[in-house]
Amino acid sequence: MEQVLFLITIVSSFVFSGRCNNVYNYSRSDFPEGFVFGSAISAYQWEGAADEDGRTPSTWDTDFHSNSGDIACDGYHKYKEDVKLMYDMGLDALRFSISWPRLIPSGRGAVNPKGLQFYKNFIAELKRHGIEPHVTLNHDDLPQVLEDEYGGWLDRKIIDDFTAFADVCFREFGESVKFWTTINEPNLIALVCYENSSTEPYIALHNMLLAHASAARLYKTNYRVKQNGSIGITFYGSWVIPFTSSKEDKIATQRAKDFIYGWVLHPLFLGDYPDVMKRIVGKRLPTFSEEELRLVKDSSDFVGVIHYQTVYIAHADYTSDMGGVIILYGNCTEVELDVLPWGLEEVLEYIKQDYGNPPVYILENGRPSKHDSSLKDVGRVEYLGAYIAAVLNSVRNGSETRGYFQWSFMDLLEIIDSSYTYGLYHVNFSDPQRKRSPKTSAFWYSAFLNGTEQEPKNLSVSSSLGFASQ
Ligand SMILES: *[C@@H]1O[C@H](CO)[C@@H](O)[C@H](O)[C@H]1NC(C)=O
Ligand SMILES: *[C@@H]1O[C@H](CO)[C@@H](O)[C@H](O)[C@H]1NC(C)=O
Ligand SMILES: *[C@@H]1O[C@H](CO)[C@@H](O)[C@H](O)[C@H]1NC(C)=O
Ligand SMILES: *[C@@H]1O[C@H](CO)[C@@H](O)[C@H](O)[C@H]1NC(C)=O
Ligand SMILES: *[C@@H]1O[C@H](CO)[C@@H](O)[C@H](O)[C@H]1NC(C)=O
Ligand SMILES: *[C@@H]1O[C@H](CO)[C@@H](O)[C@H](O)[C@H]1NC(C)=O
Ligand SMILES: *[C@@H]1O[C@H](CO)[C@@H](O)[C@H](O)[C@H]1NC(C)=O
Ligand SMILES: *[C@@H]1O[C@H](CO)[C@@H](O)[C@H](O)[C@H]1NC(C)=O
Repeated sequence: MEQVLFLITIVSSFVFSGRCNNVYNYSRSDFPEGFVFGSAISAYQWEGAADEDGRTPSTWDTDFHSNSGDIACDGYHKYKEDVKLMYDMGLDALRFSISWPRLIPSGRGAVNPKGLQFYKNFIAELKRHGIEPHVTLNHDDLPQVLEDEYGGWLDRKIIDDFTAFADVCFREFGESVKFWTTINEPNLIALVCYENSSTEPYIALHNMLLAHASAARLYKTNYRVKQNGSIGITFYGSWVIPFTSSKEDKIATQRAKDFIYGWVLHPLFLGDYPDVMKRIVGKRLPTFSEEELRLVKDSSDFVGVIHYQTVYIAHADYTSDMGGVIILYGNCTEVELDVLPWGLEEVLEYIKQDYGNPPVYILENGRPSKHDSSLKDVGRVEYLGAYIAAVLNSVRNGSETRGYFQWSFMDLLEIIDSSYTYGLYHVNFSDPQRKRSPKTSAFWYSAFLNGTEQEPKNLSVSSSLGFASQ
C-alpha cells in the first residue's frame, strides 16, 4: 500500500486549516478550576492476554470468544507505550477497569500475583505521567466461574463476592486510586443480558445496587480515612423525548425516565424504586429491607453518566413494563449517532433538579465511526466539540459536573458492532503489533486540552501512517 500521508500532512490539513478550528468558541480555561478531562478504556476491550498469566475467562470471553477478543488492543503488553500516548495527548485522567478474573481467577479467594502486579505497574505508570486513575471495578465482565456457579448477578451471593473483590482493590491500589466506580451501566447490563425474562432484569439490578452499596460501605468504613477517595456508580442515560406531542407520549416519556434513570438513581438518592415502577412491575420488583434501604441511600459520592444519544419514546401498551417503545432520532442508528448535544444538557439538568444536584462525572461520551474508514474523523471532532460545549453550558447553569471522559482513547473491541469504533487513536487489528495511529480527533482533543487550538503538540507517532490517501 502506498503510504503517503505523514503526520505533518494530517496536522496541517485538518487542524491548522481551520476546518476544525471553528467547531467551538470556548476553551478549556472556561471550565472551573479542577474540572477533569480524560478518556476511557475497559479491561476486556483493551487488555487482550485473555489466558495469560493466570487469568480465567470472563462472561465477555464466553460471549465473544474470538482471536480479536483474546488479543484486543494488546494493552496488557503495550501499556507503557499507551500511557506515553496519553501523556503526550495531555490527559488529566484515564478511566479504566480491573478484570476481576485476572485479579481473582476463581472469582473468590486467592489473588493472582501476576494480575496484581500488572495493575500495580499500570497504575504506577499513569501516576508517573501525572495521569489520575479513575477505576471501574466491574465493566460488564464477571468471572465466568461465578456465572456458572450461581448465575452471576441473579444471586445474592454476588454481593459478598463483589465486596471481597473490591476489598482487594481498595487495599492494593487505594494508595494511588482516589476515584472508584463500582459498576458500569447497571441498567443497560440488566436489560441486555436478561432481556427474555420479566423478572431477571429487576433481580440483577437489585443485586448490583446492593453490591455497589456494600462495596461503598466497606470503602467508607475501612479505607476512606486513610485514602481520602470517593466512590460512585454509573448509569446509562440516553435522553428521552416524546415521539409526538400527544399526552400519551409525554406520559410515556416521563415513565421512561423513571424506568431508565429512576431505576438506579431513585434508590441511591431518594431511597427506593420510583412509585410508578412499583405499581407497574408489582411483585416482580424486588423490595429492599429497611436496612438495605439505609445501605443503598446516599451510598454514591457521585453519579457516573454514560451518554451517547437521544431517543424518542412512543406510548405503547403491553410491549414492556415501561409502556413505551424507543424510536431512534433523526438519522441515528445503533452505531451512527447524530450530534444532539442538548440531550446531554437535559440529562445533567434532570440529575440536578430531580436528584439534588450530586457531583457528576461524565464517564463515557463519544461518537462511533466505521473502523478503518479514515483517520480524518471530522465527524467525531464535531460531536466532541459540541458535547463538551453542552457540558460547559450545564456547569455554568449550576450542574455539579466535575469531569468529562471521552470514549474511547483508542479503538477497542466494541460489543454492539465491532465494525464501528470510537477511538481517538486508530488501532490496526490486522496488524500483529496492533499499531496505533492518531486520528484528527486525537490532535483536536490534545490541542483543546493544552488550551492551544492553533498549536497542537506533536504526538508520539512513527513516521508514517498505514492509510493510503483517501
Ligand atoms: C458560543 O456560541 C454560542 C452560540 O452563539 C453561545 O450560545 C455560547 O454562549 C458561546 N459559548 C461561549 C463559551 O462563549
Ligand atoms: C432471547 O430470545 C431470543 C429468541 O429466542 C434469542 O435469540 C436470544 O438469544 C435470547 N436472548 C438472551 C439474552 O438470552
Ligand atoms: C482529600 O481529598 C479532597 C478532594 O480530593 C482534597 O481537597 C483534600 O485536600 C484531601 N485531604 C487530604 C487529607 O488528603
Ligand atoms: C438526516 O440527514 C439528511 C442528509 O444528510 C439531512 O438533510 C437531514 O437534515 C437529517 N435529518 C435530521 C433529523 O438530522
Ligand atoms: C438552568 O437552571 C435553572 C435553575 O435550576 C433552571 O430553571 C433552568 O431550566 C436551567 N436552564 C437550562 C437551559 O437547563
Ligand atoms: C501547550 O501550549 C503552549 C502555548 O500555550 C505551547 O507553548 C506548548 O508547546 C504546548 N505544549 C505542548 C507540550 O505542546
Ligand atoms: C513538531 O514536529 C514537526 C515535524 O517533525 C517539527 O518540524 C516541529 O518543529 C515540531 N514542533 C514542536 C513544537 O516540537
Ligand atoms: C494493518 O496491518 C496490516 C498488516 O500489517 C497491513 O497489511 C494493513 O495495511 C494495515 N492497515 C492499515 C489501515 O494500516
